[in-house]
Amino acid sequence: MNRFEKEAPTWDEAPQRKVLTSAITNALFDAIHLTKNQLALDYGAGTGLITLEIAQKVKHIVAMDSSVGMLGVLKEKIQHYQIPNISTELLDLEKSTLDRHFDVIFSSMTMHHIDEPLKLINVFMDALNPNGILAIADLDTESGHFHADNNGVKHFGFDRAIWEKRFLEMGLSNVHTQTAYTFQKETPNGTKETFSIFLIWGFHMVKYTHTFGEAHS
Ligand SMILES: C[S@@+](CC[C@H](N)C(=O)[O-])C[C@H]1O[C@@H](n2cnc3c(N)ncnc32)[C@H](O)[C@@H]1O
Repeated sequence: MNRFEKEAPTWDEAPQRKVLTSAITNALFDAIHLTKNQLALDYGAGTGLITLEIAQKVKHIVAMDSSVGMLGVLKEKIQHYQIPNISTELLDLEKSTLDRHFDVIFSSMTMHHIDEPLKLINVFMDALNPNGILAIADLDTESGHFHADNNGVKHFGFDRAIWEKRFLEMGLSNVHTQTAYTFQKETPNGTKETFSIFLIWGFHMVKYTHTFGEAHS
């Protein structure tokens, strides 16, 4: 059983988790303008701590994740609160394709669990509607002490400059990065370390070229 299946039932109970997801949500809302006509995707949505917030600002959001347990917790919330504009989807884009388009694609704290996260940017780009927005939040490079157990952790954070370069290479415009959250955490060896989370976002701008037709008399 992978770590998320095991941790899902108690995932929301860690107080630090709510603080962290609130900080990421606030940074996202400050960075991009969400509207009631947008279709959004939250990739690696987990128990939906951020999905539920985004849902209040968009038309519909798909919460996609590869964990049955994590999505199970979110499904209970959707049912309990009768939320009509969140759908859940069990999918791992490392193994499957994405055949729909979205106005906003967001992912939080998931890329460090993906073998080749920069490859996923191609998948996200292909799935973005014209003028769509891609936003990713994840850890800055860390010592390997962020998780108590590094099982399932594929990267000890990232150099955010790599993401900026990739976003620009993929043709995203107005690419910005900012620190969403900085915090101290006690590490397994008892010392305190500082960790930070970056948010990067960019726009899939479509350049319209106007061709003048022949004049008719
Ligand atoms: C640290 S949690 C983050 C959850 C949520 N985004 C948040 O910020 O609270 C990472 C999530 O990514 C999911 N995940 C890991 N690998 C994945 C993959 N290859 N495809 C889809 N989801 C994945 C896990 O199941 C888990 O729910």
